[in-house]
Amino acid sequence: MDSKDMATPMVVNTLQAKHSTSHIAKTLSDYFDEESLTKTRRTFEELKSLMSCYQCAIMEIETKFRVLNERFSLNHERNPIETIKTRVKSPESILEKLRRRGLPLTLDSLDELTDIAGVRVICSFVDDIYMLAECLLRQDDIRLIKQKDYIKNPKGNGYRSLHLIVEVPVFLENEKRLMKVEVQLRTIAMEFWANLEHKLRYKKNLPDHITDLIAAELSACAEMSAELDMKMQNVKNTIENE
Ligand code: GTP
Ligand code: MG
Repeated sequence: MDSKDMATPMVVNTLQAKHSTSHIAKTLSDYFDEESLTKTRRTFEELKSLMSCYQCAIMEIETKFRVLNERFSLNHERNPIETIKTRVKSPESILEKLRRRGLPLTLDSLDELTDIAGVRVICSFVDDIYMLAECLLRQDDIRLIKQKDYIKNPKGNGYRSLHLIVEVPVFLENEKRLMKVEVQLRTIAMEFWANLEHKLRYKKNLPDHITDLIAAELSACAEMSAELDMKMQNVKNTIENE
């Protein structure tokens, strides 16, 4: 493995998250030679820097949505955004995804993952989702890489959301880095359904007939939830057209 190998630093990161690199090096010097330790330390620093870039990219995207929310509330006297949630993918999840995709455990492979930085925008109404997505994509520093519309085309299980993979520039001390961010836009009802479905998915070892029943029930709940979104949107349209 070359100097970009990140398997060792990942383990280090997990085990010693609260310790400084010098302390880790001291502890690990019992097990590794000086050259390996230097490589590990360098890779660890590179990984930390990359993760910080993803965090900065999240901040850029979050600010863009906050600005849109502010401007919209000024002009329309209501907020299209209920909540914004953000997260940087954990080292454990990154490793798991690289393994699942059969990618080498190197820092370069991280560029293949488009969801290390995640921003979820929870909106009041379905129309707000498309309005906000359009406003974001119209900005000249944003490049759309991929779009998946699980609202117009819900997943088989009933999952709904609008997914965008975008690239945003992050201006560092003396360079510009283009970072990928996964943006999920959904209504409160879609968020409610997705959170519960996610929790229930981890209940394993159920007999087949129960699993089928649950899948059918969840799909029915997703339909009801979509109908609720449609009705709320219609109520809003009626009020606005009066
Ligand atoms: P991942 O490998 O999971 O990232 O999926 P993908 O690369 O095929 O991308 P996709 O756009 O389909 O899904 C990305 C993310 O959307 C997931 O990590 C979840 O946060 C969310 N998501 C997608 N499908 C479902 C679903 O069926 N249920 C729930 N609760 N969330 C989902
Ligand atoms: Mg994902």
